[in-house]
Amino acid sequence: MTTTTLPTPDDLHIKPRDRRFGREAQLSRLWHGGRVEATAIYNALSTTFPAGEAFFVESVRAFRTGASPRLAEEIKAFTTQEAIHSREHDAFNKRAAEAGYDLTKLEERVAYRLSVTKSKPPIVSLAATMALEHFTAILAHQLLANPRHLAGADPEAAELWRWHACEEIEHKGVAYDTWLHATSHWTRWTRWKVKAKVMLYITRNFLVDRTAGALELMRQDGITGVRAWARLLWYLWVRPGVFRKIAGAWLKFFLPGFHPWIEDDRHLLRAYEASAGPAPEPTRKVRRAV
Ligand SMILES: [Fe+2]
Ligand SMILES: [Fe+2]
Repeated sequence: MTTTTLPTPDDLHIKPRDRRFGREAQLSRLWHGGRVEATAIYNALSTTFPAGEAFFVESVRAFRTGASPRLAEEIKAFTTQEAIHSREHDAFNKRAAEAGYDLTKLEERVAYRLSVTKSKPPIVSLAATMALEHFTAILAHQLLANPRHLAGADPEAAELWRWHACEEIEHKGVAYDTWLHATSHWTRWTRWKVKAKVMLYITRNFLVDRTAGALELMRQDGITGVRAWARLLWYLWVRPGVFRKIAGAWLKFFLPGFHPWIEDDRHLLRAYEASAGPAPEPTRKVRRAV
């Protein structure tokens, strides 16, 4: 059951969990249950994280001046979480490359999109971050709420995705609250107009780029043309259909008065914590590095 909380819950505590995944063993090429399309889309997503999450951190921190002590604390914890996510997905991507995938084209695409956004005023980067963080949070919700998405995956890789999903839910309000802080002098209409426009823009790019990225990786597995499209679209939109399943939550972003914590889904965090056990806190070395 979900309860309604607006905005970020008072008793939310964002705590970075300094876990490491898959350092001991090689990753099998088709780590997601031997399925080409499932492996391809998760690898394509993972390719975005090292540079993408570093960009999120930069974009949010650019507006921390004048933030309330609470928001400032949350930005710090968010920064640490995203930095550790970048580290772990970088390691994961290296293992995917060792398993034989060439991720260069996908990484170049991410770098290109980020360079376009960074060429605009910093508030655009914050708006893009805020929109992408909603996207990430609703994907994370799906991953944790519906075990079907990671069923059959390599256990260590599945743990990496669950851990990341948990922390994405936990810090889902940070970029949004920073956006509210940075635009507090704007009218509600201007704020809504900019955020809606940015969300439509990044959604289009996200769908186009991740689909193209996954198709490229499927091509590297010898699956091309209509067969590749059919398998990928079926996987993403029909069964298990992760994109279809997040459509409703995506739409809520456009409602007046939206806030990521309108849906309090911390029951998923509690379930994750119960299954994963206690995690180490980041060492001083990690905290200094961020
Ligand atoms: Fe992250
Ligand atoms: Fe995030």
